[in-house]
Amino acid sequence: MKKIVIASNNPGKLREFEQMLAPLDIEIIPQSQLGIPETGEPHATFVENALAKARHASRLSGMPAFADDSGICVAALGGEPGVHSARFADGPPPGAAGVRDDQDQRNNEKLIALLKDRRDRRAHYYCVIVLMRHGEDPEPLIVEGRWHGEVIDTPRGANGFGYDPYFRLPEFNRTAAELAPEEKNAASHRGKALAALLARLRAARVIGNE
Ligand code: IMP
Repeated sequence: MKKIVIASNNPGKLREFEQMLAPLDIEIIPQSQLGIPETGEPHATFVENALAKARHASRLSGMPAFADDSGICVAALGGEPGVHSARFADGPPPGAAGVRDDQDQRNNEKLIALLKDRRDRRAHYYCVIVLMRHGEDPEPLIVEGRWHGEVIDTPRGANGFGYDPYFRLPEFNRTAAELAPEEKNAASHRGKALAALLARLRAARVIGNE
């Protein structure tokens, strides 16, 4: 299995998956390259959304497909934005050119406004990855990862995407946007979930020990 469809068009996520999978000789094909439209994310849990996205991409492509569903969960907000992280703030519908950056900025502004005067700044990123070998796969591989930090009021750093400039990691004393890509990938929710997925694929001898 050297080619896998990825059920995402988020450039930040795609870049991170490409970086992490490059040494393994696994090519990931964004579903948009195959003309597959994004499906909705209507569910209340990350795993249900990831299952729906992976199934949709695998059914339409006829190939193995994986999806990540992820977000930031803020303790003082009862876990929100959570599954609503991508479109936390109102704005134009997805798909228009440049929408993602503006959306990220609006999301961050809304989050900081909600946390104004709140002392509890604990938050974690969560990521679940679902891999379906085919569209009707009854045993999808499901792995997850978490990354704990805190939300700060003033953005720092220019790397990463989404909430990264406002997400400070105590163990680094830096925000996720101040980390080099390799540092983020080694520690992040997405990096942990992908490492778990690769371990499962190695155990099943789907990939080798590259
Ligand atoms: P979805 O998984 O496509 O629903 O979108 C996940 C959303 O969560 C992204 O659009 C970001 O807003 C946020 N998010 C997930 N992972 C990260 C990350 O590594 N850094 C910053 N924001 C993230």
